[in-house]
Amino acid sequence: VAPLKVGIAGLGTVGSAVVRLIEQQRGALTARCGRGVRVVAVAARSKARKRDVDLTDIAWAKDALALANDPGIDCFVELMGGSDDPAHSAIEAALKSGKSVVTANKALIAKHGLRLASLAEQHGGALNYEAAVGAAIPVIKTLREGLAGTTINRVYGILNGTCNYILTRMEREGLSFAECLKDAQRLGYAEADPSFDVDGHDTAQKLSILASLAFGTRIAQNEVYVEGISSIAPEDLRAAEELGYRVKLLGVAVRTSKGIEQRVHPTMVPKTSSIAQVMGVTNAVTIDGDGIPPITLVGPGAGGAATASAVVADIADVASGTRALPFGRHSTKLRETKKAPMER
Ligand code: NDP
Ligand code: HSE
Repeated sequence: VAPLKVGIAGLGTVGSAVVRLIEQQRGALTARCGRGVRVVAVAARSKARKRDVDLTDIAWAKDALALANDPGIDCFVELMGGSDDPAHSAIEAALKSGKSVVTANKALIAKHGLRLASLAEQHGGALNYEAAVGAAIPVIKTLREGLAGTTINRVYGILNGTCNYILTRMEREGLSFAECLKDAQRLGYAEADPSFDVDGHDTAQKLSILASLAFGTRIAQNEVYVEGISSIAPEDLRAAEELGYRVKLLGVAVRTSKGIEQRVHPTMVPKTSSIAQVMGVTNAVTIDGDGIPPITLVGPGAGGAATASAVVADIADVASGTRALPFGRHSTKLRETKKAPMER
C-alpha cells in the first residue's frame, strides 16, 4: 500500500515535534497503520529560520494554501494557529479537495468546527482535532466515541497547561506571575498571544468544544463566562492555602434545568481534592455521566512532545482509515442550522 503523504503547515513548537515524532515512529506507524506515513511537504512563515528538525528531502510549499491545494499530499496538517486565515482558508481548501485534515487549533475549531465538519463529511475527508483539547489526553475520542452511549451531565477540569504551570510555580516558589509566564513561553506551552491563556479564552475555546461533544449542542464559545488568572498574586495563593485551598483555573460545562451553563474562572478547591493534586503543565478533565461514576483523564496539557503525540495519533487514524464523524452522533443534526440550540 502506498504511504500516506502528509503536508504540514506550521513548524513551530508543535509542527517541529510532529516531524520528529513521525520520523522516530516510522516503523511503528507502518506496523500500526498497515502503510507508511511520510512528511512530503511543509510550509511556514520563514524558510530561513533555524529549526531543530531534519527537513532533508521534504519540499517547501509557497504558503499554507498552496500546500493545502497540493495534489501530491493526502493529509493536510495545520499547526500554525489562529482562528481565521490563513489556517481557515487552507483547511477549507484541503477539505474541499477531499483531503483529510488534522489540526491542533482550538481557536479555529471553536469558531468554525461545525462548518468544517460538514465540509469533511460532504467531501469524504477526515477532520481530526484531538490535540486541540488537553494535548496528549485523548479526551475528544473519549467523549465522542467512548461515551457515545452515555448521557453526559457535566464536563469540567483544568484545560490550560500554561495557567496551571503558572499557578503551581507561584504557589510553590513564590515567583511572580510575569516570571512564570515567561518560563511557560520559553517551554513552548503558551499561545503565540499568551493573553489567550492567562485571560481564560483558550480554556473557553476548549470547554466549548467539549460541551458541544458532550451535550450535542452547537459550539458556543461566546456564551462562556470567562475570567482569567492575570490578576492573581502569590499572596492570594498563600491566603487560599492558609484556609486549606488551592486556586485552579477551571472550565465547567454543566447541563441545568435552564440549559447548558459554561464558565471559566479561578476556583478555590480543597487542598485534599484530587483536582488540587494536578500540578504544573498537567491538565485533567472529569466527565459525569448517567449511570457511571465520574471518569477523569489526566495528562500533559501542553508542549511540543505531548501535543505531537495526539497529532500523530490523528494522522495514524487517517493512514489506517479509522474514521469518526468529527462531531460524532450530533454532527448531522448540528450542521442543519447555524442556530442549533444550546438547550435541549
Ligand atoms: P508556534 O508559534 O510555535 O508555531 C507556529 C508555526 O506556524 C511557526 O512555524 C510559524 O512559522 C507558522 N506560521 C505562523 N503563521 C503562518 C502563516 N501565516 N503562514 C505559514 N506559517 C505560519 O505555535 P505552536 O506550535 O505552539 O502552536 C501551533 C498550534 O497548535 C496552535 O493552534 C496552538 O493553539 C496549538 N497547540 C499548541 C500547543 C502547545 O503546547 N504549544 C498544545 C496544543 C495545541 P515560522 O516558524 O516561520 O514563524
Ligand atoms: N497554550 C495552551 C495551554 C496549549 O497552555 O494549555 C495547549 O492547548
